[in-house]
Amino acid sequence: MDYFRWQTIFYTKPWLKIWPSRLSKGYIESRPKSGFYVKRQMAEAITTPEPTRPNTIPTLVSGQEMVLHLVKSANNPKMVQFGAAVPAHSFLPTHLVTQAFRQVAKTHPAEVNDYQFPPGLPELRQQIARRMVGNGCDITPQDIVITDGCQEALRLALRACAEPGDVIAIESPTFYGLLQVIHSLRMKAIEIPTDPDTGMSIPALKMALDQWPIKACVLVPSFSNPLGLSMPDQAKHQLVELLSKRQIPMIEDDVYGEITHGTRRPKPLKAFDQDDWVIYASSFSKTLSPGLRVGWVASKRYHDKLEYFKYASNLATSSIAQLAVTEILQSGKFERYLTRVRPQYAFAIDRMTAAIIELFPQGTKVTRPKGGFVLWVELPFEIDTFELTKRLIPQNVSIAPGRIFTTTENYNHCLRLSCAVDWNRQTEWALLKIVNEIKLMKNE
Ligand SMILES: Cc1ncc(COP(=O)(O)O)c(C=O)c1O
Repeated sequence: MDYFRWQTIFYTKPWLKIWPSRLSKGYIESRPKSGFYVKRQMAEAITTPEPTRPNTIPTLVSGQEMVLHLVKSANNPKMVQFGAAVPAHSFLPTHLVTQAFRQVAKTHPAEVNDYQFPPGLPELRQQIARRMVGNGCDITPQDIVITDGCQEALRLALRACAEPGDVIAIESPTFYGLLQVIHSLRMKAIEIPTDPDTGMSIPALKMALDQWPIKACVLVPSFSNPLGLSMPDQAKHQLVELLSKRQIPMIEDDVYGEITHGTRRPKPLKAFDQDDWVIYASSFSKTLSPGLRVGWVASKRYHDKLEYFKYASNLATSSIAQLAVTEILQSGKFERYLTRVRPQYAFAIDRMTAAIIELFPQGTKVTRPKGGFVLWVELPFEIDTFELTKRLIPQNVSIAPGRIFTTTENYNHCLRLSCAVDWNRQTEWALLKIVNEIKLMKNE
């Protein structure tokens, strides 16, 4: 599809005033008796951010407490949620999940009330292993430990392969939840330059490995958060080879891997892992429901430690949630849901990109992800997006400011926008509020 139907994209009157300029630039085409169409090559007109260049030195993580404040706002129903990387219900199979809960409560009345101690429900691990093998990974159900979401999987994985004070290599910018895990385990982060298209720079990682006693590397190689990047297969292969040779564990966070905008998901790093140095972490939070809190971590080498740490941290993951996910996976409905939702995410990204091109100030740069549902936006340097966030919260608009994704000061002018929102007039007004505040801040 080379065009969007304009009417299906934008609703709000103020937008109409801006459109004629785009007509003249050829991004929008008017077709008699048919309407306005936004050309897809509009997206080509936008500049993408340059590869990042953080200070590559180990740093203690701090300042993450402010994230809790932002995250709490996610539960405010009046808030337009561009800030949280949580899909709106219209993107999630909520009906399927509710149905599965009802079903398993009836069919497994005893099991839903019992602990499902680590490593977790065997049938669930079997389903997950089957999917992972289908993606090229050498994994059996015995290698998997069920966790409370991917966040717990990351925590267990880091605990299994590193100690307090150890240095962990991460992408820059990175998912703030990872910074919080590193912070709470009293480890140090070293940010590695990252290309918004191709991922962590392998030469930069090599230099960091030569210079610092790095104990593990954590990355989101498929549709990362916040950059949305996807590492090419060749880079994944090189990365696995580099770290395996040095016997350094790599923790792969693959929580967005299934949300490709195409038809086939990318291969995980784990698919290139000959010597079992990749610890794989994921969850169903982005594909079924974040409230389920069902995730997993998979590794042969670290399995026993992972299993024990899971038990020691909270005994077990919810039994009814594990049973419900198993029911959905066994029914084949999960795959059908993914096929249906992928174009919906692609459209959501395209629509937000079109809005950013249209409305945001000159000099704005934005990523062009091929999966997931977040955009990383670089504003003109003088705009402090933390200040912008503070101004927007009272107006019931949330964004995620750049500084929560780093230990550096490098992204103070950046923000992450979630595109998996319900699109309506209120959403468009919320975007206009962001633009208005940016304008005010520029003129101050
Ligand atoms: C990259 C990444 N990893 C992990 C998580 C946490 O996932 P979960 O909700 O399954 O704990 C998120 C949530 O936003 C994420 O974006």
